[in-house]
Amino acid sequence: FKWKNMKKNFTVIAAGGLGTRLKNYKNNEYTKVLIPIGKTSMISQQIKQLKNWGYENIVIVTNPEFDKLIKEDVKGNFPNENIEFVIQSEQLGIAHALKQAKPAIDKGSQISFILGDNFFGVNPFANNKSIYSDNSAALVLKKVNNPEDFGVAVLENSKIVDLIEKPKKFISKYAVLGFYKYEYECFEIIDSLKKSDRGEYEITDLNKKYLNLSKVNYSIFDSWWIDAGTPERIEELSQKLI
Ligand code: G1P
Repeated sequence: FKWKNMKKNFTVIAAGGLGTRLKNYKNNEYTKVLIPIGKTSMISQQIKQLKNWGYENIVIVTNPEFDKLIKEDVKGNFPNENIEFVIQSEQLGIAHALKQAKPAIDKGSQISFILGDNFFGVNPFANNKSIYSDNSAALVLKKVNNPEDFGVAVLENSKIVDLIEKPKKFISKYAVLGFYKYEYECFEIIDSLKKSDRGEYEITDLNKKYLNLSKVNYSIFDSWWIDAGTPERIEELSQKLI
């Protein structure tokens, strides 16, 4: 019976980042995802975006200092929503943040993982179901003018041949956007990661593991994308979301 093989879908939002590039922005004494965007907070805008696209079983990864405030904000804006919260007790990187969600996720599930500050004109995974096959990771790429600010993918003959986090020397224009698809196996792979030079478990290193296993798929994103990690990009996002 087909239903038996249906995978449950979970949606994990990384919301524990401190937003170090936003310290003095709008008197930001708290945390990036609580910065107001239009009428509400960044985290509530993020949930709205995901719900509009039909994502469900939301798990939010917060940090110890702001867990309470983030919960209050989300519960205030989505009182009837069954949203789970987990705490990343140390800021050890994005792959480490994802790992914290494991207890809230059923074995065998598919996981959509989004960085709380990433916003998109349309759902990047809307029409490309074919790009993910079992046990593989799916990435979304977009050509940008500032690839040094992001993780990038090097393409050869339309295949990803390398992934590099914030390359100091130009190597590719294709940024890897902050929305990823994985399966439950990712947690095991995260356990095999080593800390990067800046002392973090990098999402790019997780993706590289998938690449080395030839289990990484991608699509190119055509609509707008904003990583709201700087004051300028937050202003830009506020214009889009009013
Ligand atoms: C993070 C990731 C990077 C990715 C980017 C997308 O960088 O480390 O690989 O391209 O998000 O927004 P951050 O913006 O946290 O510095």
